[in-house]
Amino acid sequence: MKIIRSVRQMQSHCRILAANGKSIALVPTMGFLHEGHLSLIRKAGKLCDRVITSIFVNPTQFAANEDFSRYPRDEKSDLAKIKKAGGDVVFIPKAKDIYPDNFQTFVDVQKLTRTLEGNVRPGHFLAVATIVAKLFNITRPDVAIFGMKDYQQAIVLKQMTSDLNYPIRFVIAPTVREKDGLAMSSRNSYFTTEQRKEAVCLYRALRRAKVMASENISDLNAIRTDMERVIKSICPTAEIDYIAFTDFESLEPLMTIRKNCICSLAVRLFNVRLIDNMKLL
Ligand code: PAF
Repeated sequence: MKIIRSVRQMQSHCRILAANGKSIALVPTMGFLHEGHLSLIRKAGKLCDRVITSIFVNPTQFAANEDFSRYPRDEKSDLAKIKKAGGDVVFIPKAKDIYPDNFQTFVDVQKLTRTLEGNVRPGHFLAVATIVAKLFNITRPDVAIFGMKDYQQAIVLKQMTSDLNYPIRFVIAPTVREKDGLAMSSRNSYFTTEQRKEAVCLYRALRRAKVMASENISDLNAIRTDMERVIKSICPTAEIDYIAFTDFESLEPLMTIRKNCICSLAVRLFNVRLIDNMKLL
C-alpha cells in the first residue's frame, strides 16, 4: 500500500494510473477509521481497480467552538485498517499544502446548504464542498463514495459533482451501525462506557418515528414529540439541536409524512454532538 503526502505526487500518481487504464475510487475521510469507513473502502474496491483513501482533518469545516483540536487521530491504526480493507493508496496531505497562504477560492452549493446542519453550522458545507472539490481535482476519481450517516453532506456533494461537471460516479453507501443501533462515528470515541449506552437514544427515536410512520401517523408534531420523549427517557441531559422531516432529494421541509420522507436529527450528549437519519417512507 502506497502512502502519499504530497499533492504533486498524488496528482502524478493518479495521472499514471489513468494513463494505464486503471479506474480510481476515492474515499475521503478525516481518519480515526471505523467499520463505516472500512465498508466504503471495501465497496470502492469492488467498483474500481484502485482505491485511494484520503485522511485529512479539514480545519476549515470546524467552527471556532467545535472540536477540531480534540478530533481523534490515529494514523498508524488507520493505515493498518485501510491495508486490511484492501486500500491501495492513502493520501495524507498537509494543511499548508491544501490551504497555502493567500488561499481564497471556495465552492458554495447554495440552496441545499441553507438548511439542517447548514443552519446550525454556518460555513461548514462551504468548507466541505471546497475540500472535496480539491480532492476530486487532485485525484480525478471515476467513483467517489460517501456514507449515508452524513446524508446532507452526501446530497450537497452529489449536487456539486453534477453542477461542476465532474465525470464521477457518486455513490452513497448505507450507514453502518453498532449492535445497539448507534450509527458509527469517530466522535463516539469521546464517550465513557456509561455515556455511550445513552447515545443509542438517537437511533431509538428514529426507530420510533419509523414505526409511527408505518402506522400511518402523519402528524409530524406528534412524531417529533414522541421522539423527544424517547430521547429524554434514555438520556435526560440530552439537548436536541433539531429533529427535521424533509424530502430526501431536495431537503425541502415536509408538512406531513409522505414517500421519500427522511427524518434527521442532531443531538448534543455530554458535550458531544451526534447526527443521524432514517428514511421513514
Ligand atoms: O465526512 C467527512 O469525514 C468529511 O466531511 C469529508 C467528506 C472527508 C470532508 O472533509
